[in-house]
Amino acid sequence: MVKLVGKKKIFVAVFISGNGSNLKSLIKNFKNNPKIKISLVISNNFKAYGLIYAKKNKINYKVVKYKNKRNAENIILKLLKKNNIGIICLAGYMKILSKYFIVKFNKPILNIHPSLLPKYKGLNTHYRVIKNKEIFSGCTIHLVTPSLDSGKIIAQKKIRIKKKDNHHTLGKRILKIEHSLYWKTIKKFVSSL
Ligand code: GRF
Repeated sequence: MVKLVGKKKIFVAVFISGNGSNLKSLIKNFKNNPKIKISLVISNNFKAYGLIYAKKNKINYKVVKYKNKRNAENIILKLLKKNNIGIICLAGYMKILSKYFIVKFNKPILNIHPSLLPKYKGLNTHYRVIKNKEIFSGCTIHLVTPSLDSGKIIAQKKIRIKKKDNHHTLGKRILKIEHSLYWKTIKKFVSSL
């Protein structure tokens, strides 16, 4: 992996597919940050609500459809290069990045996942957590590797599940902690590079 040298400003690309509440929080928390700039938003979905935050904040964004995965990834790789992107942060991106993409990009890719990894990889985490009567859940930020939700864990925040929680209420509470954990973790991570 390429080392990011010196105290240069890092340009971040955020990948989204849906609501984009994490994107919203990242934009807000990195506004006027001298070292970190959210400068590109990528989505595979024209209807992703989160694109509104890119538009509102005049952040360059691009929707790349996945008719053919390799073509889509090559288009994205070009955009990343053109925009001098140093880190990708996945925030609800519903496409799995291939090994080809990860190797070609050759810089850090972070993801936020709404469970205490390595438990509950994949989708419908809150539903499965409630069904299994877990006592704790939370969210995890990890490095992205070709294997789903399995890269090195960078940060984790745990909360106790309430007796009256269902998957909606739990999901809402976890999303809230995601919003504060993600930007703080990125900030720390960038200063460690
Ligand atoms: C979050 O729960 C995140 O952990 C998961 O997808 C969800 C995205 O939410 N990967 P949002 O689009 O940021 O609101």
